[in-house]
Amino acid sequence: MNRQTLIQTLPKAELHVHIEGTFEPELMFAIARRNGVGIPYASVEEVKAAYDFHNLQSFLDIYYAGAEVLLHEQDFYELTLAYLQRCRDDNVVHTEIFFDPQTHTERGVPFATVLGGIRRACLEAEQQWGITSLLIMCFLRHLSEDAAFATLEAALPHREHIIGVGLDSSEVGHPPAKFERVFAAAREAGFLTVAHAGEEGPPEYIWQALDLLKVSRIDHGVRAEEDETLTARLIAEQMPLTVCPLSNLKLKVVDNLAAHNLRRLLQRGVCVTVNSDDPAYFGGYMNQNFNALVQALDLSTAEIKQLCENSFQASFLSETAKAAWC
Ligand code: ADE
Ligand code: ZN
Repeated sequence: MNRQTLIQTLPKAELHVHIEGTFEPELMFAIARRNGVGIPYASVEEVKAAYDFHNLQSFLDIYYAGAEVLLHEQDFYELTLAYLQRCRDDNVVHTEIFFDPQTHTERGVPFATVLGGIRRACLEAEQQWGITSLLIMCFLRHLSEDAAFATLEAALPHREHIIGVGLDSSEVGHPPAKFERVFAAAREAGFLTVAHAGEEGPPEYIWQALDLLKVSRIDHGVRAEEDETLTARLIAEQMPLTVCPLSNLKLKVVDNLAAHNLRRLLQRGVCVTVNSDDPAYFGGYMNQNFNALVQALDLSTAEIKQLCENSFQASFLSETAKAAWC
């Protein structure tokens, strides 16, 4: 079996995908028209041409603008169902989806509207295709600690539908330490924790995510390699990194995929996983990320299998469910 077929065939879990980052331009235009919301592009081609980023912030500016089109429960449902269809196509059998409530509540869209639409699609995908999902609510780190506390408060009535909290948005200048207290309150309320760290930010942010936020996974974490003690700790603790190769390429975290450290980290024994992050913006869903990696890094069959197995081991599935896939 060639490696492309192997990638297609193996069951996989996705652990790092922002639902707002799966908003394909075609759907964005359709929902914008339906909602009577203007977008500053004349065509899908113009939108795609604007997706030329030089760093994380240049992407986030466009990503938040795109999300402004989303107003109603039906919009969040259609967005999520379209992503889950891609999961079905790529044989992603389990997904842990990030959503950014503040991007929507700040515009007056109720928390329950966002969650309701996402959940309806997840339930339908499980019934129709057997794809399981868990939801992780992210705090926007460029906003205040108070705003994060208000978001946590809004989530409490929906506690049973949200497995964990995360931390995303502009990394540099907004260290995990800023959210130590809100993460403590979230853990107290029963949420698991994850955080973006070491995407553009320094290894120190990864230390903080581990020691102050007590995360179960690090999202990205590719800059860990700059700190040998930290890398040794990630290996010893089998702390997963949810790595996003095409994202790292598009946001210029790496100059080219051949220079990506994913294979080195994997060979050293770090529990690395492959994920799509914001696939509508970065040019690929799960299997496109895998295929691009195979091309650039010449991953072996055993390495591809290890990455797929890691995706389940690092997931928030029960041990029984993990065992069924590994
Ligand atoms: N929000 C969506 N994608 C993100 C990323 N790659 N880093 C930080 N915040 C994000
Ligand atoms: Zn991300």
